[in-house]
Amino acid sequence: MSPRPRRLADPASRRTPRRAATPVSPARLMQEAERALRTAHAPYSRFPVGAAPLTAGGRIIVGCNVENASFGLSICAERNAVFRAVAEGEREFVAIAVTARRGHGASPCGACRQVLHELAPRLWVHWREGGGRIVKRRLDQLLANAFAFEREGG
Ligand code: THU
Repeated sequence: MSPRPRRLADPASRRTPRRAATPVSPARLMQEAERALRTAHAPYSRFPVGAAPLTAGGRIIVGCNVENASFGLSICAERNAVFRAVAEGEREFVAIAVTARRGHGASPCGACRQVLHELAPRLWVHWREGGGRIVKRRLDQLLANAFAFEREGG
């Protein structure tokens, strides 16, 4: 049997994420980000980061930073995670947890905020501060007036 063609969602219909079918606590999401951190490839900065986005359907797809000897080719944990998720057919995200090692804060960088905003402007972002406290903010608070393609007449 041939696979069913996947329907691409209209960007406008992705704006309001559905609630996760299975509630996942921020603590659990952070645990997954911590697990992902252990797989980071960060020999240059020695700053491993883990990220764990939660889909509207309740899936957690993790990512870590992957650095390169040609430094500019390195990718952050958040983008790695969300690109993996999109490649697996996921389009709706409700939250993401981000962490560095104990004692280091890990609020998402500007590039990652823009990439996350493309898919989920109302995403809940949880990150661990250096002192260990977990901070929670809406993405559209973290990135006001994000760039978006404005089409003629739109
Ligand atoms: N990094 C992330 O993975 N996420 C961020 O939001 C900021 C920075 C990574 C990139 C690089 O591998 C290391 O942290 C130091 O900048």
